[in-house]
Amino acid sequence: MTPTPTATSDLETALRTTAAIRTFTDRPVNRAEVARILDVARFAPSGGNQQPWHVVSVEAPALRTALGERIVLAAREYVALGRAGQRPFGLTDHGRWPGPGDVDLAAARADPADLPAFEGIAQAPAVLAVLVELGRLAAMDAELDRHGLVPGASIYPFCWNVLLAARLVGLGGVLTTFAVRHEPDVLALLGAPAGWALAAVIALGEPVHQPVRLRRDRIADFATVDTFAGPPLITP
Ligand SMILES: Cc1cc2nc3c(=O)[nH]c(=O)nc-3n(C[C@H](O)[C@H](O)[C@H](O)COP(=O)(O)O)c2cc1C
Repeated sequence: MTPTPTATSDLETALRTTAAIRTFTDRPVNRAEVARILDVARFAPSGGNQQPWHVVSVEAPALRTALGERIVLAAREYVALGRAGQRPFGLTDHGRWPGPGDVDLAAARADPADLPAFEGIAQAPAVLAVLVELGRLAAMDAELDRHGLVPGASIYPFCWNVLLAARLVGLGGVLTTFAVRHEPDVLALLGAPAGWALAAVIALGEPVHQPVRLRRDRIADFATVDTFAGPPLITP
């Protein structure tokens, strides 16, 4: 059986099969490949075309280790919240995180249990920290009584473009926001100036396995006509 190719420049194939890739072969990813990816990803949209991003390719082993430690600390919290029956860091219907409830997050962070899936993210063949300049974001939802959605819309399309563009050079990857739990540490590690925030860490590499069929809802499950409860846009 021939392996499924990861590389594609076909838009529909890329949109349908760009899965979260968490296990990578040993094939290194060089700076030219990262640059090729960014050269395509930079055409992402952003509010007012502010292009508020800065990408740090995290290469130094000490930085990788320190970043991985922060991701693991957050993963321990995530796992503890999940074990307590919560949707970790999930918002309520009012669009706010209700807090950890009975879960002791400090104790969770101190849990030495191995979390190899998360430890591996910062050791991927390429690791990109995506920073965003807050002063270039706009929040049309600023006065709504819920967590902000709109500012993120100026940076996450760029992140997604990175993952899609990776397919051009036969790479895949995964985005994690776990390190944002320790944003001040990470910004200090990376020497970010004041006014910048951490949007995501993206791990990239050659996938061990390229999925061809992703589990997603059908159109009829999420698209209606005229009103939310209106007829399905199409019959299933
Ligand atoms: C905002 C965001 C945060 C995510 N965080 C993580 C993460 O911390 N760790 C991880 O392994 N995957 C993470 N993912 C990947 C999702 O788990 C993945 O997109 C989803 O499960 C669908 O997986 P699939 O494309 O392989 O079907 C994240 C994705 C998004 C969009």
